[in-house]
Amino acid sequence: MAYSEATVLAGGLVHIPILIGLVGFFQKFHAGITKRPGNPTLAEKKSPQPSVAQPSTAPKAVKKPAHPNVPVNTYKPKAPFEGTVTENYSLLQDGAIGRVNHITFDLSNGDPQLRYVEGQSIGIIPAGQDAKGKPHKIRLYSIASTRYGDNFQEKTVSLCVRQLQYEKDGETVDGVCSTYLCDIKPGDKVKITGPVGKEMLLPDDEDANIIMLATGTGIAPMRAYLRKMFEPTEREKNNWFFKGKAWLFMGAPKTANLLYDADFEHYKSQFPENLRYTKAISREEKNTKGGRMYIQDRVLEHADEIFALIENPKTHIYLCGLKGMEPGIDEAMTSAAKAKGLDWSELRPQLKKAGRWHVETY
Ligand code: FAD
Ligand code: A2P
Repeated sequence: MAYSEATVLAGGLVHIPILIGLVGFFQKFHAGITKRPGNPTLAEKKSPQPSVAQPSTAPKAVKKPAHPNVPVNTYKPKAPFEGTVTENYSLLQDGAIGRVNHITFDLSNGDPQLRYVEGQSIGIIPAGQDAKGKPHKIRLYSIASTRYGDNFQEKTVSLCVRQLQYEKDGETVDGVCSTYLCDIKPGDKVKITGPVGKEMLLPDDEDANIIMLATGTGIAPMRAYLRKMFEPTEREKNNWFFKGKAWLFMGAPKTANLLYDADFEHYKSQFPENLRYTKAISREEKNTKGGRMYIQDRVLEHADEIFALIENPKTHIYLCGLKGMEPGIDEAMTSAAKAKGLDWSELRPQLKKAGRWHVETY
């Protein structure tokens, strides 16, 4: 999706009625997770403690945590940073569908240096011009590395990019920016903007629980989280020793399309008490209805355990990847919640408001 200031402005305007709505919401439901008459809340079921932050009186406005130390828009579209490609290699195994690459850029010599944190995105301006002879628009990509970079030198950023290809009028059309990125070579210069985004940031708590739902390249931010949690050098550098439960649900069309799979299996073997890794291989496995196995089918299979985790106020859920997975995940969560006497349509906005439901789909 192309990123534009107009989109940001429109997004901002859209939030005005939402904010007004939220004030009313708080006044109406001032007791934590709301419930329908007769339905116990998650908190009531498990413990007397509320599972989302409680306002003591109805606040005038609802504010999300500001994350003031998170860098944003250090480099803007009019004056992008020129990064140098250091690596560009395929993440796929033999027999995989399509093209997905891991691409790393050197950020040295930036003044100021482009810094970012796990869960943010950067913008890429592809070289060349569009059909009207104008410079190409920016495309956003989730950052797949931690702030320390893959080599821990704090001077690189990595992406996980799938080449977009689709058929139109009997011809294959290649996506402009994704093809540009998959084709670039070490040494090439690339225009980078950002970083942007505060939606997908990790909590500071070492004992938070992190449920991750990824399809395809939606794994990018999750890879950064998992490195921060389980790479020994990351743990030392951050002085942050993850002690909670991390649970990755990963959707890919074929086993050969699983991204960073060997790393995640390794983390699982090193931290069996802290990491679960559940795969949904859509073109090799079937769901109970005989259709393609998607992550929402896996979510349904593990609904009890997922909801037991959600009852803990330290649990965060992250969704990243195909926009199309959102309705499926919602449906799965709705049935899972119903089985526990809960209403997902009420629970989800409360998790969102508590900063525990994080979505970045495209
Ligand atoms: P374009 O040349 O821009 O073509 C896209 C356009 O083609 C669409 O707008 C649509 O008009 C058309 N189109 C697409 N599919 C079809 C179809 N089947 N039939 C007909 N027309 C079609 N991508 C990643 O690979 N990795 C990431 O980590 C990643 N992170 C993202 C994070 C965010 C926050 C956002 C918003 C997007 C992210 N993307 C990511 C997607 C990325 O920004 C680009 O949208 C994607 O790479 C395609 O760009 P392109 O220039 O190759 O395609
Ligand atoms: P499929 O393409 O078999 O329908 P990739 O980006 O590498 O193609 O991986 C995306 C994964 O997400 C694939 O397994 C794809 O399955 C799956 N997928 C496609 N549509 C949905 C959806 N609506 N909900 C969940 N997963 C989906």
